[in-house]
Formats: sequence, C-alpha cells, structure tokens
Amino acid sequence: DTGLRGAARGTGTRIGTAVDMNALANDPAYKAAVAREFDTVTPENVMKWSEVEPTQGTYNWGPADDLIKFARSNGQKVRGHTLVWHSQLPSWINETDFTKAQLRDLLRRHIFAEAGHFKGKIWAWDVVNEPLNEDGTLRDTIWLRALGPGYIADAFRWAHQADPSAILFINDYNAEWLSPKTDAYYKLVKDLRRQHVPVQGFGMQGHLGIQYGLPGDVLENVKRFDALGVKTAFTEVDVRMILPSDQYRTQAQAEGFGLMLRACLLVKNCISYTVWGFTDKYNWVPGVFSGEGEATPMDDQMQPKPAYDTLRETFLLA
Ligand code: G3I
Repeated sequence: DTGLRGAARGTGTRIGTAVDMNALANDPAYKAAVAREFDTVTPENVMKWSEVEPTQGTYNWGPADDLIKFARSNGQKVRGHTLVWHSQLPSWINETDFTKAQLRDLLRRHIFAEAGHFKGKIWAWDVVNEPLNEDGTLRDTIWLRALGPGYIADAFRWAHQADPSAILFINDYNAEWLSPKTDAYYKLVKDLRRQHVPVQGFGMQGHLGIQYGLPGDVLENVKRFDALGVKTAFTEVDVRMILPSDQYRTQAQAEGFGLMLRACLLVKNCISYTVWGFTDKYNWVPGVFSGEGEATPMDDQMQPKPAYDTLRETFLLA
C-alpha cells in the first residue's frame, strides 16, 4: 500500500487520525481514506462524556462502538479520548446539584463505566486531558475543585483497574516546546511515577499555527519525556494558518508537520503520531479561530498537500 500507513510500517510509530463519525457514516471517500492512510484512529468527539452519557444513567455507546468495529475490520488500533476533561461535560454535571463527595463518586463511576465498556478494545487512553495552565499550575476545573490535586492520580488508578491492558496517557496542548508549562508537565509525570501511579504516556497534542512560529526545540523536549521511560505520542497534530493560504504558508505548514514527526521518530518511545483530522473538508479550526484554517495534510477535495508529502517522505526515510 502506498498511503501514510504503508510508509509508517516498520518504523515503530503508528500514524493516526481523529475521526469525525458523521463523515465516516456519510462520505465514502472519507471512509476509504481513513482505512487507507492510517493505522490508529481516535474518536474526535464520540467518547467524550457529553456524548456517552447525555442524560444521567443513559449511555450512548453506539457511535464509539461503530468506530471500534470499523477499526477492527481495518486492522487499526484505537486511542480512547478522553475520560477526564473540563470541557464537553454533560450539562447535568455541575457544582450546584452535587457535593464535592458526589462529584468524586460520579467521576469514579464514569471512568469505570467507560473504560469498562471498552475494556480490551482500547490501545491507549487519554485519561486526563489538558490539566495544566500555561504557567504550569493546575487548571482550575470542576475536578480540581471537587477532588483536589489528587484527582489526576485517582483517575489513573481507576482507569488502570477498569482496563489494565490499555496504555494510559496524560495529554495536553502547548506541550511541544520548552516552557513553564512543559517543565511542570515533566515534573507532574515524574512525581506521579515516583508514587507508582499508572501513568504510562505523555501526550503532546501538537496544535500549531504557523503565525506563532514552529517549535524548534520539540526534539529536546520530547527527549526528556522519553528519558523518563514512559511512552510518548503526538496526539492531535494540526498546523493552522491565517487564510487565505499561499505557497509560503502551505510550505511552513509542511515544515511544522515534519518537525514534529522527525522528533517522534528520533526518540525511542514515541509510539504514535495522530493528526486531528486529515482533510480540510472536516476540520474544527475555522469554527473556533475565525479567519484561520486549512490545518490538515489534505485539502477539501482530499488531495494531498505538501504536508502530506512531507509526512510520507519522513516516514520513508526513517
Ligand atoms: O453534537 C452537537 C450537535 O448536536 C449540535 O447540533 C452542534 C451545534 O453546535 O454541536 C454539536 O457538538 C459539537 C461537537 O464538536 C460535535 O460536532 C460542539 O458544538 C463543538 O464544540 C465540538 O467541537 C469539538 C471540540 O473539541 C470541543 O471542545 C471539536 O469537534 C473537536 O475537534 C475538539 O477537539 C479538541 C480535543 O478534544 C482536545 N484538544 C483540543 C481539540 C481541539 O479543540
């Protein structure tokens, strides 16, 4: 096969994409490309708490089960995303209807319900997503307020009990370059490991924008994570730009994708590189950053852009 997945074979690093389940169901070209190009998949939304338990006690596993079925029939592994996050929570979870003790119990039950439902079918879980502020302090979330800073360790212990074979990741953005945030990220994982908390992977989301510059020190940063002996992964890579695009922007974008993939391939424990959507046809960026977009390796006709060629050539050289 000629796609990215063929190029990645034998490198020790899997190539993945976030999957939009509506597109997978309704767009045959999208579906064919997910199967052809990738050997891991991450649900872009359908495993988030708001999606799986929109009403308390009523679970909606169907869309995520469909993705697992699709992955199995295409020989792909699944990255679960995400068990503990402050965003995309169901509206029934709030701090007025529940006490702190009740919220702790709800979070524990949620982790056991979800990681338990998918037990044995998830390669790697993003257990705790986006726990840090830019200055390296813990983000002030419903979970920090209800459970205290120990919520991170608790979440990993519960997830490990619920599904002992999944590789458990912590995951954050702006985690690619050296900064107060990545120093704190490194220290957090080091401390958790010292306490024998079952955190097994560092996720770097990898959302870049060419207007901010590219993280030239990404290799140095990944190396120190790697040296802790935990797995690493680029979990949500995309490189956005201010529109309209031109050849310079498209080229800078390709360099961003390539820079992160090279860092991944140059360390020992970087097990996967996942793009957060592979075609500009379906992408979250324009809806959130107005005037920006074209953040993925294929255009809105699903034709390869320079970023696609860079990813493929980088894998082939590895
Ligand atoms: O499902 C509802 C639908 O019922 C409703 O009619 C529609 C109207 O707005 O909204 C739909 O939900 C949207 C959902 O995506 C599914 O399409 C939400 O509004 C929208 O906010 C949500 O956006 C997702 C975003 O996370 C939410 O924070 C993006 O698709 C998804 O790409 C994005 O992914 C995150 C990662 O999980 C974590 N890291 C950052 C990354 C990018 O923000």
